Amino acid sequence: MKKIIAGNWKMNLLKQDVDQYLEVLKTLTLNQDKEMILFIPSIYLDDVNHNLNNKDIVIGAQNFYPEDCGAYTGEISACMLASIGIKHVLIGHSERRKYFNESDMVVNKKVQKALANNLHPMICVGETLEEREGKLMEHVLECQVFEALKNISSDDVKNISIAYEPLWAIGTGKTATSEEAQEVCAYIRTLLNKLYGDISNEIPILYGGSVNLDNYQILLNQEDINGVLVGGASLNIDSFKLMVE
Ligand code: PGA
Repeated sequence: MKKIIAGNWKMNLLKQDVDQYLEVLKTLTLNQDKEMILFIPSIYLDDVNHNLNNKDIVIGAQNFYPEDCGAYTGEISACMLASIGIKHVLIGHSERRKYFNESDMVVNKKVQKALANNLHPMICVGETLEEREGKLMEHVLECQVFEALKNISSDDVKNISIAYEPLWAIGTGKTATSEEAQEVCAYIRTLLNKLYGDISNEIPILYGGSVNLDNYQILLNQEDINGVLVGGASLNIDSFKLMVE
């Protein structure tokens, strides 16, 4: 399986920054064993996707609303994303769970809607520090994974990836050690195995949370870590470039 280097800009970068970033993106040549997905704000999706001209890089959306169309002022739908050629979408990021009350049920609805529109969902799961310290981590992850994948068939699950992002490591500069990250990603794989048997080995599991130039390689070297989801460190194209090339 190729290693996935995914970037998540969150709500950052202005048009002029994006234009400069795009110029560098166009010139990137990915290492053969890597693939790159960049989750960018919706407002830039169409422009970046059209002007990128680099088949090695895929552009993804950070969010959508799980209805096809209708009176949902301010929202965009999965079919709108599909209609402009977007193929990947982030679902259940902890910031969406925290600030926009995205429950496991909503996550599942979004996963189904994404798949129905031929989008590849990257589902984020992760525990808080209190949950980890209170020995609730496994239970929390099991609920998040099982709920997100409710009624998802073995065929469909091949289009999904899971990103393990412990909340205490996001944007804090505090990364899980490679051993900790490997251990939890291996646990997530056992959960997937319970649901889908051997297909679990084909589902990419990524680690995210303060990934940077200093730690990405050791994380990627772990057996059950098939990629990294990079927030803050993906904003600077010069350092992000070094991770993918
Ligand atoms: P971070 O964010 O790399 O800035 O910690 C990761 C994420 O939230 O996806």
